[in-house]
Amino acid sequence: MLKELLEKYEKKEDLLLEILLECQVVKSDHFISKDDIKEIADYLSIPESKVCSVLSFYTFFSDKPRGKYIIQVCKDIPCYISSDVNVLNIIEKELGIRVNETTSNKQFTLEYTSCLGCCEAGPVMRINDKIYTHLTADKIKAILSEYRVYM
Ligand code: FES
Repeated sequence: MLKELLEKYEKKEDLLLEILLECQVVKSDHFISKDDIKEIADYLSIPESKVCSVLSFYTFFSDKPRGKYIIQVCKDIPCYISSDVNVLNIIEKELGIRVNETTSNKQFTLEYTSCLGCCEAGPVMRINDKIYTHLTADKIKAILSEYRVYM
C-alpha cells in the first residue's frame, strides 16, 4: 500500500511532510511504523533520521498504532485556565483509558496536543479533523456518544 502511495509523489525531499500526512491518514492504524520510515527515506533518498526528526517535531504524528478516532486534548495554558473542566479526566473515565492509550476495541486513542488555534474558545479538543470548543462535562459526554454510534 505504501508503495502505491509513494508512486503518486515526485522523489523530492520537500514532499516529505505531505507523504507522512497521507501515509498516516490512509493506514487503518493511523501511525508511521519503522518500516514506513525506512521505505519513505529510501524512496526520497534521504536519511531515516531526517524522517524521524520531522515525525518527532509535529505532535500530530504517531509512532504507535492508534484507534479509528484520535482524540487530542489541548494542553496549553490558555485552554487550561479557560475553565475548571478537566477534559482529560472526563474522557479517561468515559472511555476507560489513560492518555496515550487506545481502547481495546481500537476505536479511540487519547492524546495531548499543543495549541489548536482556538484559544479564545477553550477548553478545546480535536477528534480526527474536527475541533470541539467551549467544552463542558455534558458536552464531552454527548460528543463521545455520537462517535460510539458510528463504531
Ligand atoms: S491553547 Fe488550547 S487552543 Fe490554543
